[in-house]
Amino acid sequence: MNAITIRTLQALKDKQQKFAMVTAYDATFAQLAADAGIETLLVGDSLGNVVQGQDSTIPVTLEEMVYHTRAVARGNARAERPALILTDLPFMTYGDVATGVASARAVMQAGAHMVKVEGDDWLVPLVKSLAQQGVPVCAHLGLTPQSVNKMGGYRVQGRDEAHAEAMINHSRALAEAGADIILLECVPSELANRITAAVTVPVVGIGAGAGTDAQVLVCYDLLGLNTGHIPKFVKNYMSGGRTVPEALRAYADEVREGSFPAPEHSFSA
Ligand code: KIV
Repeated sequence: MNAITIRTLQALKDKQQKFAMVTAYDATFAQLAADAGIETLLVGDSLGNVVQGQDSTIPVTLEEMVYHTRAVARGNARAERPALILTDLPFMTYGDVATGVASARAVMQAGAHMVKVEGDDWLVPLVKSLAQQGVPVCAHLGLTPQSVNKMGGYRVQGRDEAHAEAMINHSRALAEAGADIILLECVPSELANRITAAVTVPVVGIGAGAGTDAQVLVCYDLLGLNTGHIPKFVKNYMSGGRTVPEALRAYADEVREGSFPAPEHSFSA
């Protein structure tokens, strides 16, 4: 079967068909997730939390993202239908265009098909430059964990109208600059719906309600591997005695049919 590309994802949005994304940090899980039909694998800097035991994503380095991207790319290549791999550029590796381009080169050469960056319209020059150089970009807005210290904690974003309108404008600006995916984390469902309607590129949500074009979950959350606080948007797909491949398929099926996330996994304004 043909590998998933940005054209596949755009065609799904155009046909109003939803797709799934899950984080992956190693080869075995990457192959299992792609073989379960999950379209996109995110080598997320959440690996800092769940693999390394850090308190935030801030300590994660570019070299570590390259290492995990290589592992995921190897596993994904063995899948029947390889998924599209996105890799996070970690904290302060894309503060200006030249640094961001160099960081993107490192993860793309390690096997990523797209880079993910956190921020709003200050990213427009970087997104334009990457697009011109053939690098697909996912722009992550809303709760951006690399800015946890500036945000004063992990909190739902865009609850007031001024902030909501700014997020809609920033999403539009990033899509117009060349971003291929907008990712929204922890925003009210109504705002996520407005952004999904406002941009022509696919919108992926986590804690953003069921109205986006796609959903993402951290693989450890999906597999019930939690030790501390479990965020409201998480669902454990291992319940009911499923195997890991069954859990991955159940997640992808529920995303596609729109039954995940349910209202209890979502936020209101
Ligand atoms: O790093 C990550 O896993 C992420 C998701 C939470 C979207 O950015």
